[in-house]
Amino acid sequence: MDMSKTRLNNVNSKVVKVPLASEILLSLDLNRASSEKMNEEEKAVKRSLGNEGFVPIKEILEGKHTDVEVNIRGWIHRTRDIGNMAFLNVRDPSGVVQATFVKDEFDEDKFKAIKDLLVESSLKVKGKVKEDERAPGGYEIAAADAEIVHASEDFPIHKDQSVEHLLDNRHLWMRSTEMRDILNVRSTVFGAIHDYFRTEGYKEFQSPILTPLACEGGATLFPVDYFDEEVYLTQSWQLYAEAAIFGLGDIYTIAPSFRAEKSRTPRHLTEYWHAEVEGLWHELDDIIALGEGLVLHVVDKVLEQNEEELERLDVDLDYLKRLEAPFPIITYDEAVSKLKKEGMNVEYGEDFGVPEEKKLTSLFEKPVFVTHYPKEIKAFYMKRDEKDDSKVLGYDLMVPHVGELIGGSVRETDVDSMIRRLKEGGEDPSIYEWFLDTRRYGSVPHAGYGLGVERVIMWLCNLDHIRDAIPFPSTPNRCRP
Ligand code: 4AD
Ligand code: MG
Repeated sequence: MDMSKTRLNNVNSKVVKVPLASEILLSLDLNRASSEKMNEEEKAVKRSLGNEGFVPIKEILEGKHTDVEVNIRGWIHRTRDIGNMAFLNVRDPSGVVQATFVKDEFDEDKFKAIKDLLVESSLKVKGKVKEDERAPGGYEIAAADAEIVHASEDFPIHKDQSVEHLLDNRHLWMRSTEMRDILNVRSTVFGAIHDYFRTEGYKEFQSPILTPLACEGGATLFPVDYFDEEVYLTQSWQLYAEAAIFGLGDIYTIAPSFRAEKSRTPRHLTEYWHAEVEGLWHELDDIIALGEGLVLHVVDKVLEQNEEELERLDVDLDYLKRLEAPFPIITYDEAVSKLKKEGMNVEYGEDFGVPEEKKLTSLFEKPVFVTHYPKEIKAFYMKRDEKDDSKVLGYDLMVPHVGELIGGSVRETDVDSMIRRLKEGGEDPSIYEWFLDTRRYGSVPHAGYGLGVERVIMWLCNLDHIRDAIPFPSTPNRCRP
């Protein structure tokens, strides 16, 4: 049986006008060998037909169905009635459109049932699309029929509610335009990171979440009771990645990392998504280029796919569009003297806090790499600079509003120095035994970095707090819903 024909017939019997999607399908070569890959457009058409001819609201707002009868389905975003008319703004994942119901055109009970529906009720609407300047988005549907799928209870989110209330009801707040916009950007960001690394020839590698190792110091570890042994939720994929490159070569991941950060700042989560990369024979220059390349690729993709969302989020699009390589590179020492010149009271040898990062990033038009930090304020695995033993070959990439976006370094390759550094940091080197083997059997130069994915989203979406960059945030004061 020719399934495609049956599907088309189905669609024709459900809607008066064949939806645009099926018009495209008609022109496709249906006999094409099934082994041939479907392109994105064809897949979208198939999905749409699988939906029995319901059109995405976005297409209506783009003027693709004007003066045509369509079916839509979604949730009530807002309602208003004026006696003999009811206006329902209907939302689906692609947009919101107004459906207008005229009392005289429905039987009395049905009109009342529709008019009395509460916000977030789900329904299907059939009607003719009309251009109308007064309607939000410029189009409306003159409803000819509707099917109530579920009449909602009183939705617990109303206008102007507290941040805490919205966080308690995060599972419902995810339906808001704002959260949908951010999550759309988030989806693009994840896709862009994967395609950047894969295109550049990095393979995807996964490390364990449960680990006895502290990659980034003992102060921010979450302990887990592992059958009477204490292990931790991973802070970073890095140490396992350093073992993997000997076999696999250049690798990357995007995975959750955990930090028991007690600092309640707007840019710290206790669980965040961490994009990390580790490259064989990589030097500082290589990971600088790789950091810059990744950030620019992500910005490009988001501008390409989410301009509408960014506009609604009030993002400075011109700033993002202006970004191009190269990003400025300064040393820690230069950063300190710049800050002093700006009148800031910075202690040489201390790590930068929020005020310092804010000031520093304001001095540059673009994200800025700060390199060669004092060894005391950086992790045990960072390689010392041969020219100045007090500094490490590492960097932080900083952006306005968020601060540190990436932390990366060249790795120490000498086993004795590594053991010494672990001891200096109060760690027990015996726990790191297997890791130290990476410096015993054919140790080679290598380097890598980690980028906080929510920090990128926070930066791109101009968010006040990092918790809005992740669907269900965990922070020191909450780990729910
Ligand atoms: O600078 P960090 O701690 O570096 C590492 O974990 C290295 N092992 C990475 C590597 O070289 N493979 O963390 C890297 C990035 C930071 O620059 C920041 O963007 C993000 O992870 N990050 C956090 N994001 C959200 N909440 C937190 N608590 C974060 N801590 C770090
Ligand atoms: Mg760091």
